Amino acid sequence: MDGFFRDHPLSLGEQSGDLLIHVANHEPSTDDIDLHTARIRQEKSVHPAVIVAIGGGSSMDVGKAVANLLTNGGRAEAYQGWDLVAKPGIYKIGIPTLSGTGAETSRTCVMLNRQKNLKLGMNSEHTIFDALILDPDLTVTVPRHQYFYTGVDSYIHCIESLHGRHRHALADAFSRQCLNLCQEVFLSDDMMSPHGREQLMVASYLGGCAIANSYVGVVHPLSAGLSIVLDLPHCLANCVVMDKMDAFYPEETAFFQRMCRKQGIEIPQGVCAGLDDEAFHRLYLSSIIHEKPLINALGPDYRDVLTEEKVGALFRRM
Ligand SMILES: [Fe+2]
Repeated sequence: MDGFFRDHPLSLGEQSGDLLIHVANHEPSTDDIDLHTARIRQEKSVHPAVIVAIGGGSSMDVGKAVANLLTNGGRAEAYQGWDLVAKPGIYKIGIPTLSGTGAETSRTCVMLNRQKNLKLGMNSEHTIFDALILDPDLTVTVPRHQYFYTGVDSYIHCIESLHGRHRHALADAFSRQCLNLCQEVFLSDDMMSPHGREQLMVASYLGGCAIANSYVGVVHPLSAGLSIVLDLPHCLANCVVMDKMDAFYPEETAFFQRMCRKQGIEIPQGVCAGLDDEAFHRLYLSSIIHEKPLINALGPDYRDVLTEEKVGALFRRM
């Protein structure tokens, strides 16, 4: 459960004999997953019957990763990649309390691995939740700016998917409907109305389905660089990158800025100001490592487009 609910009535489950773990409200690392898994093994002599993940994208991802690691053994970093999880995880239920990341439906659970400059999840059929409870009333207390940053993750997933080389009719259909809903929510006068919260929860689900069936593009790799080097949360980092994507997604960048203006959301500027050459080199390395989305966006010779100089220039504008 998201640490946000530590003193909330939802945390009363702890008294029922279930093991309740509050998850830190930041991007989980492979070390975090190893620690949570070790604690469950220590406190329970048999595997849990079910894992219930309640919270935002990070809590969803922790639930999925721990469920897989419990049955597959070893350390979390061994499963960072594609289809490395051999056995089904523990039966897992997702209950999102924030909309946008699509973590409730995606086939990955993103983890930071700072030793390897790597932000990558367990991309696997076994990472998908067995059941979901989608209740938009759970997002009523989300701070406005976080609601926006996270909701826009759905928008970004879909514009990246629709601009990729890995397109097909199914992913496109999910993406298009998700974008319709995002547009309706973020161009409305009150993005957090009951109707808006309901629409955004569905958009998040559809956006997750879109990328579960395709790949992201240029935004997410650069955003991963910001998360690795500057510790920026995923959705905030996405917005910082999306704001400067005019060279890759000109119309979508302008539309993103229109949504920001309509909702009165300021995107942080100058986040890379004052960084030294070594930090820019790490930003480059931790972005360029994401081959699959970058090949999806730019083709197999993506390194010729995203040279270290070009990537450095992009980050210097952020
Ligand atoms: Fe995302």
